[in-house]
Amino acid sequence: VACQNIIFDDRSALDEAEYAGDLRNAFSAATFNESASVAIEKISELLRRNTVEGVTLEHPELLLEEARGLMRDGEGCDTFDPALFAKIIDLYLRTSIKVSSTGYMARQFSSVVPITAVFDMVTAMAPQPASFYEAGQLANVADKIIAEEFARLIGWETGTSDMVTTSGGSLANLTALLAARNDRLNASWKKGVAQPFRGTPTIAVGEDVHYSVSRVPGIIGIGQDNILRLPLNDRRQICVPSAVALIEAARAAGQDIFCIVASAGSTSTGAIDPLDELADFARANGIWLHVDAAHCGAFLLSDRLRPLLRGIERADSFCIDAHKTLFVPALCTLLFYRDRTKSLGAFTQEASYVFDNREDPMTRFESGAKNFECTKRPAILNLWLVWAMYGPGLIAKKLEYLVDLTRDTYNYLSFLPDFEVVHEPECNILCFEYRPEWVPSERVSALQLALRDNIRAAGKFFISKVELEGRNVLRIVLMNHEINIGHVADLVTEIRRSADEIATLWSMDAVAQEVSR
Ligand SMILES: Cc1ncc(COP(=O)(O)O)c(C=O)c1O
Repeated sequence: VACQNIIFDDRSALDEAEYAGDLRNAFSAATFNESASVAIEKISELLRRNTVEGVTLEHPELLLEEARGLMRDGEGCDTFDPALFAKIIDLYLRTSIKVSSTGYMARQFSSVVPITAVFDMVTAMAPQPASFYEAGQLANVADKIIAEEFARLIGWETGTSDMVTTSGGSLANLTALLAARNDRLNASWKKGVAQPFRGTPTIAVGEDVHYSVSRVPGIIGIGQDNILRLPLNDRRQICVPSAVALIEAARAAGQDIFCIVASAGSTSTGAIDPLDELADFARANGIWLHVDAAHCGAFLLSDRLRPLLRGIERADSFCIDAHKTLFVPALCTLLFYRDRTKSLGAFTQEASYVFDNREDPMTRFESGAKNFECTKRPAILNLWLVWAMYGPGLIAKKLEYLVDLTRDTYNYLSFLPDFEVVHEPECNILCFEYRPEWVPSERVSALQLALRDNIRAAGKFFISKVELEGRNVLRIVLMNHEINIGHVADLVTEIRRSADEIATLWSMDAVAQEVSR
């Protein structure tokens, strides 16, 4: 075969035809249609399913074998096998958290607004990598629209603030703290942090801060030893008077506290730190205030819940996990900067193949220079889609319902003599203990852990536990709007049933120990 002046031998031309044939099938519209209809049927069935179920934990080695058994060998095959695809989806669904079940009360994941899952398929098939305008035009425009909508809700003047989307709250926290470091420890981006500053660079965080924040000082050269842990009050919020005293003492001892990280919705109890007072203190002392509002930042959408975040408008930066409480697929996090010029401070780099130093209408829209990721899913489009199709009221309504339900649960459990709630809920997270008369105080913590394990293994409810002040407590996160107080009452019954089982096991153990003595 001759193509212009290049000669190909016949064998390679033949292989090419076969090769392309195989590929064509796998990538074809027909295969897309067939596979999509299998998946749609399965997901519709999942949404219709009206069962109370938790999570089924399988032995990892067995699961590994099962998953391996579904794989084809290296030969490759050009036919789509709908039965195999159905099996793979079934395996996935069997091993996933049942977020649409009324037994699911364990974690911060929610089911997503279904249109966003469908749109995720569209954005996967026709990608718009979101960091650069030329590759992700609508994604970059959506970034701007969502940024403006939130700025309006926060009360920031148009055009003064900025927002960057990141893949996850962990990355948003890292990015914000890097921006804080580069801003307050001038020249650290270029010269590193091993140079004379006002003192030892230190980041102050609340005791209950998420681990994604407490690992940042290790990453950005501040060092784990230079984290100042701020004490909490009895609502597990940063206790401002004690925090101020501690920061001042640390300063006197030569530490330069350049950043404070507060939480708006701590992972363990959902506590919202006193943002207003912390903003006052931070501003008066030239400290960058970052708020990890991954969980509760979404309250900005609700007129009723927004006041709980008072002070957030004065933070230098804050983030919201849209994949938690804005009900879109993971990962989608919004990172806000009050001062738009600071958003460029996290990364200051030259890369002529992507960054264009000439400001033009397109570069002004793109986020590549402001976020860690190069290729980035256009996850923001899902949020824009919900806003376009339903308006933000849909999200606000769900959030308000979940917060009210958590308050009702608190009132209900407070009323029961064998339960003890650990805190008043500030959002949709509630921690409590089950304390039947028979349990000695030194075994209360062990009972909570055993209850979590036992209830999870029974498979009807899925709840979590958290360690507070060295003791285990039970924790529920109400993310499913189909749950009502009746389901909570069923959970109470399940906890009591499970505790009876544990009591029997424990007394059998005690007898066995007695006998073996
Ligand atoms: C308060 C808080 N911050 C940050 C994160 C981390 O977010 P992501 O899982 O999106 O990285 C979480 C996750 O649970 C969280 O609860």
